[in-house]
Amino acid sequence: MSDVMDKMLQQARKCAEEIKRYREVQLVSHIDADGITSGAIIAKSLQRAGIEYDMQFVKQLDENIIKELADRNPELTIFTDLGSGQIEHINNYGLNAIVSDHHRPQGEIDLHLNSHLFGANGSFEISGSGTTFILANQLGNNRDLADLAITGCIGDMQYRKYGKIVSLNREILENNPTAIIPKTDISLFGKQTRPVYKMLQYSSDPYLPGLTGNENACITFLQNMGLKYANDEKWRRWIDLTDEEKTNISSSLLQYSMQNGLSSYNISRLIGESYILLQETEGTEMRDASEYSTLLNATGRYMRAEIGMAVCMGDRGDAYEEAKNLLATHRKNLVDGLNFVKENGVTQLSHLQYFDAGSKIPETIVGIVAGMSHSSNNRYLPIIAFANSDDGYKVSARGTQELVNRGLNLSDAISKVCQEIGGAGGGHDIAAGATVPAGKKEIFIEKLNAIIATQIKKPS
Ligand code: C5P
Ligand code: C5P
Ligand code: ZN
Repeated sequence: MSDVMDKMLQQARKCAEEIKRYREVQLVSHIDADGITSGAIIAKSLQRAGIEYDMQFVKQLDENIIKELADRNPELTIFTDLGSGQIEHINNYGLNAIVSDHHRPQGEIDLHLNSHLFGANGSFEISGSGTTFILANQLGNNRDLADLAITGCIGDMQYRKYGKIVSLNREILENNPTAIIPKTDISLFGKQTRPVYKMLQYSSDPYLPGLTGNENACITFLQNMGLKYANDEKWRRWIDLTDEEKTNISSSLLQYSMQNGLSSYNISRLIGESYILLQETEGTEMRDASEYSTLLNATGRYMRAEIGMAVCMGDRGDAYEEAKNLLATHRKNLVDGLNFVKENGVTQLSHLQYFDAGSKIPETIVGIVAGMSHSSNNRYLPIIAFANSDDGYKVSARGTQELVNRGLNLSDAISKVCQEIGGAGGGHDIAAGATVPAGKKEIFIEKLNAIIATQIKKPS
């Protein structure tokens, strides 16, 4: 066991001892896939320990929400996948709280389970769900929930830095091989559920020139390779193909990508690790961590996180059907969002690029769209997105690993600007977000550009 894991376990033990003193607790989690899996992990482990809970999902944690939580006079509140950036408010409102999170800590609290405090970076070494999994296993044996822990970190794209999950995430994976296993495979999305040509057609990361968005071209590509339909004349899914067929398609796709101008970086990303949830049925979204996390995002990001959580808790009836309906809408919104950015373009400054989606992209998915559209925009600059929100602007910022290596820290930069001009934000070095008061977009972007300029050093 790694040294950091050992320290996390000791801290988790302290937190678990506190939890066991209560019969009912208040749970608060984030609305994305990592937050939903975190919520399900803690809820399931409390249920098994005979402790009641009241669950609440929030878009973000701010002073108002913390005040509302405190007004209910809970004996204990457990924050998962959020909280580390709002400790000052948690303390000020006198909440008795446990924070199980992976965002950059701002402030100090006693029962704080966050890998940053023990030397591991929460942007790629462990997610909220992994952190909460460690806590859950101090409440009882909850190792079967490792599949949700890994699904959460995939939702947060923690595999991006090395093309696979590493560090504490890897320890959780490798210690629980009956729940989840890695598999080297084509890295396109939809291997469990999509007909093969659709899997090619909808590939956005990496973008396949000539194939992405072009149904006929994808069908021709596969027919040229002699790929056969199933007996009922229907297209098969990736999981239905023989190993030989999979190898053939993968190598043809690599060859095609080399001939069609894909960068060597993107070519190298075409094959990667997938994570298979062994306790789930093959051919469903839940079998693959990437598809599962998208299904969960499709619920929480539309304020229906309780549906995603019900799926995580085992509901394969109404909740799963509803989640699939929400997924169809989510996909359409992502496509519309990407088209918006393509049509309207981005504005470049010296150290960043940005776009303002106004009310054309929901604030809860503008960060996903920013991240996805980054691959077709200038990757030498971070991308900043604005969308209208009730309190002004929702800001989402995304960088690249190369920029982070050169000093970029979006979480620090955004927190600093918010301190100067109002608003609140935080997150990670590579991805961060904020809410900024109305009318302050220009000053925000100007100051952010200046701070990023001081962070980024020239390549050596
Ligand atoms: O709130 P939270 O920590 O869950 O969000 C993490 C965000 O960081 C995700 O939206 C994810 O897409 C983004 N991310 C990224 N690139 C990485 C790691 C995370 O864009 N390498
Ligand atoms: O919302 P978005 O996906 O852009 O969030 C990126 C990262 O910034 C996430 O880790 C999120 O939790 C964090 N964030 C934050 N405060 C906000 C908005 C986002 O800490 N107001
Ligand atoms: Zn998270």
